[in-house]
Amino acid sequence: MKKKVLAALLSVAMVATLLAGCGKKEAPAEAPAETEAPAETEAPADTDAEEPAETEAPAEAAGDFADKKVGVCIYQFSDNFMTLFRTELENYLISLGFAKENITIQDGQNDQGTQSNQIDAFINDKVDVLIINPVNSSSAETITDKVVGAGIPLVYINREPDESEEQRWADNNWDVTYVGCDARQSGTMQGEMIVDLGLEKVDMNGDGKVQYIMIEGDPENVDAKYRTEFSVKALTDAGWEVEELDDQVGNWDQVKAQELVSNALGQHGEKIEVVFCNNDAMALGALQAIDTAGRKVGEDIFLVGVDALSEALENVINGTMTGTVFNDHISQSHSAADAAVNYLTGAGNEHYIGCDYVKVTTENAQEVLDSVK
Ligand code: GAL
Repeated sequence: MKKKVLAALLSVAMVATLLAGCGKKEAPAEAPAETEAPAETEAPADTDAEEPAETEAPAEAAGDFADKKVGVCIYQFSDNFMTLFRTELENYLISLGFAKENITIQDGQNDQGTQSNQIDAFINDKVDVLIINPVNSSSAETITDKVVGAGIPLVYINREPDESEEQRWADNNWDVTYVGCDARQSGTMQGEMIVDLGLEKVDMNGDGKVQYIMIEGDPENVDAKYRTEFSVKALTDAGWEVEELDDQVGNWDQVKAQELVSNALGQHGEKIEVVFCNNDAMALGALQAIDTAGRKVGEDIFLVGVDALSEALENVINGTMTGTVFNDHISQSHSAADAAVNYLTGAGNEHYIGCDYVKVTTENAQEVLDSVK
């Protein structure tokens, strides 16, 4: 499995980095990457693919972390993307030598109060490091104060705290970092995939404007804000005129999105040319509504999402979704675990650890699907 090969390559690379005495990561390049294929597909194809990653990690590295306690807080277990993320995170931590029984992953059930209690319990339990996907990014300041006060290093994932909060970590030289991708890039890529189709094809009613609906994630999340803004900006940057027919909050949820898109199709009918969804779970819901309304993606409507869930990739391959954007849960979960290791070894981290999204169209969807399987 490529994932395992990648995990093995990364763990070897990480140990080499640690041995060289430098575990720090670079902040991401400002400009979105031009790459169209996921990084891991560049791994040599014919390495002994069935070899489990954990056997690749040197014994001394494994010994270092076996008794370290890792607390992980996920905002909501039922989120499809975060399920991929946490599964990969746990497997990779184990491949680095952490003991499964010392990795505790909690479901915040989309409730900040619940998650805060879980964080308190982890502090009482004296975990060695915390990895937190906050329910509300705006609670990051309170969380940071609590965790730093307890002397525990902290890795935020997926929901980026605001700039002033990140600045505090740097100003105080705290062991706190954020691992994630820049959501602006994913929004831009969604819009570019529509622009690449050409105005003539997308503007089906020929009124010189692209009519779209937007289905957003949760309102306080920067991923939702930026994807909403930058997807449309890619169209206007290309000189296209746009008209928003509807903009609704689907909270990353398939069922909610199906209902919203079904209403929008009922209200605006054939006027809708493009459906932008801030993630794939919602795009899958949108697709159900599109099917029920008797519309056909690629023929009389276009649909894009973000994440590259396997089901969405199958749809891109079959032409029932126009495209998606690979939100690389493999590299993000590995970077989060590596950052935790860097705190435990004293190597430290930068306060922002980035990654790149990858555009996914019919051209590379199969390749991306193979790489995440
Ligand atoms: C986004 C992802 C969504 C959802 C959200 C949770 O990055 O695209 O599907 O998981 O994170 O914060």
